[in-house]
Amino acid sequence: MGYNVAIDGPAGAGKSTIAKMVAKEKGYIYVDTGAMYRGLAIHFLKKGIDADDRVAIADACRDAEVTIGYEDGVQQVYLNGENVTYMLRAEEVGNMASKSSAIPAVREKLLELQRSLAAEKDVIMDGRDIGTNILPNADLKIYLTASVETRAKRRYDELREKGEACDLEAIAHDIKERDERDMTREIAPLKQADDAILVDSSDMTIPEVVAEICSHCA
Ligand code: DC
Repeated sequence: MGYNVAIDGPAGAGKSTIAKMVAKEKGYIYVDTGAMYRGLAIHFLKKGIDADDRVAIADACRDAEVTIGYEDGVQQVYLNGENVTYMLRAEEVGNMASKSSAIPAVREKLLELQRSLAAEKDVIMDGRDIGTNILPNADLKIYLTASVETRAKRRYDELREKGEACDLEAIAHDIKERDERDMTREIAPLKQADDAILVDSSDMTIPEVVAEICSHCA
């Protein structure tokens, strides 16, 4: 059994940025479970399935295989053997992932893959239900959050830096909607595990958050 760190929290809290840096500092493998949901979402989009068609999505899980690999330490997602990593961050993929991840067949599909990765290696795994559901016996659980305003502003700055047009209020609205969906779904909703350490990064710098989490690692 590897040393397992679970890091959960809402969209835009900085989980992947922080988890990657902790992984580097401590020599863990970073496992991004959101990317797996996004990989499956690409399958549903390719098939032209509507994001609200729960029956078709559950059915389409049968001919989808998501696997994970690493190139230069960077996680790659393969959908039925094809590397789809470059498509993962598209907005429509994120929306489909957010909706389809509430469907039991979708979650079951990825559960074993996530558990087997953690069983073999020292990992820091980020997602929504890692500490509560996937790795209930993780050695360390972190619940990383930040206020809606802070998360919206970070996303806004990120998009502006890329030269993309964006609207702060629309981003905040989107974040609230996604929080609501992730936290109120019936299966594996986002919530802080009883034994998770709460880190609110609203008024912290990235190095401060990394140092805080590393201080709890073995
Ligand atoms: O972290 P992310 O934005 O890449 O995740 C995409 C979607 O996948 C997110 O809206 C919720 C879902 N997800 C989940 O339900 N459980 C996880 N462990 C990780 C992500």
